Amino acid sequence: MMDWTDRHCRAFHRQLTRRALLYTEMLTADAVIHGARERLLSFDPCEHPVALQLGGSDPQKMREAARIGAERGYDEINLNIGCPSDRVQSGRFGACLMREPELVATLWSAAQDGAPNSPVTIKCRIGVDDQPPRDSLFALVDWCARAGCEIFIVHARKAWLSGLSPKENRDVPPLDYQLVRELKQMRPDLKVILNGGLRDIEHGLSEQGELDGIMLGRAAYQNPALLLGVDPRIFNAPAPCADRVAAVEAHMGTIELALRQGTPLHAMTRHMLGLFNGLPGGRAWRRTLSTDAVRPGAGAEVVLAALSHLARTPALAE
Ligand SMILES: Cc1cc2nc3c(=O)[nH]c(=O)nc-3n(C[C@H](O)[C@H](O)[C@H](O)COP(=O)(O)O)c2cc1C
Repeated sequence: MMDWTDRHCRAFHRQLTRRALLYTEMLTADAVIHGARERLLSFDPCEHPVALQLGGSDPQKMREAARIGAERGYDEINLNIGCPSDRVQSGRFGACLMREPELVATLWSAAQDGAPNSPVTIKCRIGVDDQPPRDSLFALVDWCARAGCEIFIVHARKAWLSGLSPKENRDVPPLDYQLVRELKQMRPDLKVILNGGLRDIEHGLSEQGELDGIMLGRAAYQNPALLLGVDPRIFNAPAPCADRVAAVEAHMGTIELALRQGTPLHAMTRHMLGLFNGLPGGRAWRRTLSTDAVRPGAGAEVVLAALSHLARTPALAE
């Protein structure tokens, strides 16, 4: 998620789940090819498994960007066919490509060509504007499956490309989980992952049905404590940390190392604000981080001070 799932966010999330597949922010193929690669693409080995999300509409560039991503060690290359922003539309990629399934299949083949040993997946909407969603979703999947794509992550609502802001496009067009489940019934050979409006793990699992997985965006970012439930509930494995406080404590070494390398504290703590939502002390935690961590020269002691607001109670274990 743009501006959210950067490497600092992902490293923090790894204290809460070892198994969930994490995604980068979308990078354009052009940025990957011509941009500051070290800054854009570097990640910590602890972030595995991590998928690089690419946006673009030029197959040649997509091939090259996927090649670079695979060479950098990303575990999956994911193509963004769902972003509705104007900037993206003017570059003719993102959600507007729902109208060009043949091109998406070509882009997928190019990316797979560039990253022959990596899974290349597609994240899409169910349609855009006045497209009948059953036609647009199934056409996109058919084209891409014919090219060889086996994994689709479907944000189960349309994008309305004129009139709605990107934020509204994540809330206003109605969700249609049933259509995504029908896709899986029609194409049991494919892996279909459900995304959009899932509030937490229970909600995700209750909507998953026969689908192959769930993707949580905003809920996981805004309420990261839910990630503590992923490994035990979904992968039948222990959570990496016993509770939220333990996750922060486990993260302190990473924070201190990044501070020494010149990363401002706030670049890391901004992803941690919601960790104690709903718990006594949760507001004070957020307030301390929002005010003190942004001060120039703020160090790890701010996190310890914020942590001192939390009493260790059984409610912390989730
Ligand atoms: C701030 C923000 C940035 C986002 N950036 C991306 C992005 O770069 N690529 C993408 O595929 N989806 C992006 N999304 C959409 C989410 O991945 C997800 O599809 C959408 O929010 C619906 O799922 P949710 O209800 O679980 O959040 C973004 C969402 C938000 C809130």
